[in-house]
Amino acid sequence: MGSSWVDHGLPDPSEAFRKAFPGRSPTLLSRAPGRVNLIGEHTDYNGLPVFPMALRQEIRILLSPRDDALVRVVNRKREFGPREFTISHEIPPHVTGDWANYLKAPCQALARRFGDLNGFDALVSSTLPVASGLSSSSALVIALGQAVLRVNEKTLSTLDFAEEMAAAERYTGTQGGGMDQAISAGALEGHASRIEFGPLEVFETPVPEDWRFVVAHTLVRAEKSGFAQDAYNTRTKECREALEVVAGVAAARGLAPEGVVSYHHLLERVCIQDLVDLGEENLEGTLLKRLRHVVTEGSRVYDAEHAMKRGDRLTFGLLMNASHQSLREDYEVSSPELDELVDLALGAGAAGARLTGAGFGGCMVALAGPDSVDGVMESMEQGFYQPRGDVGKLDQILFQAEASQGATVETL
Ligand code: GLA
Repeated sequence: MGSSWVDHGLPDPSEAFRKAFPGRSPTLLSRAPGRVNLIGEHTDYNGLPVFPMALRQEIRILLSPRDDALVRVVNRKREFGPREFTISHEIPPHVTGDWANYLKAPCQALARRFGDLNGFDALVSSTLPVASGLSSSSALVIALGQAVLRVNEKTLSTLDFAEEMAAAERYTGTQGGGMDQAISAGALEGHASRIEFGPLEVFETPVPEDWRFVVAHTLVRAEKSGFAQDAYNTRTKECREALEVVAGVAAARGLAPEGVVSYHHLLERVCIQDLVDLGEENLEGTLLKRLRHVVTEGSRVYDAEHAMKRGDRLTFGLLMNASHQSLREDYEVSSPELDELVDLALGAGAAGARLTGAGFGGCMVALAGPDSVDGVMESMEQGFYQPRGDVGKLDQILFQAEASQGATVETL
């Protein structure tokens, strides 16, 4: 995969901006971090909680506001060519998978919300690996959306903005939940956040000082806008179908009112065991498996949050392992490489390990203590990366996550 995954080591960004847009200089810097989800996978679009933290790795956009509605964007990574369009409430999309759609999504949404908007010239750079399950695409949406607001002197509360951007990103064709946008926009440094949906709410927990989260890339790209999109969207559909069936049966038996349309509301009335029992009686194989993952994963989030609050690494790790098993067997979103990384981490003394993000490739996250972290990283290096030959810069694909602050925009 080599060094094209991130663009460290390139010349000064302001210099690059002036080269890309002769005669113009950047006046704003908008940045938004990626995230690593610690537990609560494929729960957000089902209205159940997640527990991510923001990363130090981020998207950075240098900008110069314009007097017209034109948006011109150059990406320092050559695989993403320059794009240009006009902001309006109806922006024609590029073909599915084109990175321009992640630029157009926030622009269209904010034009619908605020009316006529001015555009800008922008230079995008990134220290996040692409298609890695670390939310580089949502970080781009957040950084760009925030830039649109600042250029046009508009404001939204953090949660309102995060919700707006989560809805906006569906423009790209992925029926995603709201986790990535909420953590990228609103994370608190040094903390993990339990995020609830409908309504969107965030509850922070300090990450204990002696906990080390190791992130390791499978070297397999999980393109949110490519092959993984279908598999992802299929899962969202299956979850809705499973919910409709069990909610209908629960209503017929007087366990829940008619017309319950979310897992969250169903779980307020029917306990997990009863829900899975209803599933076993009324659903066929795949839908039952999806239901079982979603409802058990949601409850693991609360248990994990409590474990982190008491500094109980052992329990947090066991919950991560249970999450991975459920994602592999019931949700069927793991891969041989993810399983291999998980096994290596556990074999080297990690308290727990699991895939993070949507799966189908991307990254694994493992929890270690100060004494075991070096061994865990060495085991990845020797057991996974060395046998694969040239993998580019190791520190870009294997690193300790630092719980970082959410998005900011500053005047230069
Ligand atoms: C992707 C989506 C998120 C979430 C995860 C899986 O990252 O963008 O909304 O659904 O997958 O937990």
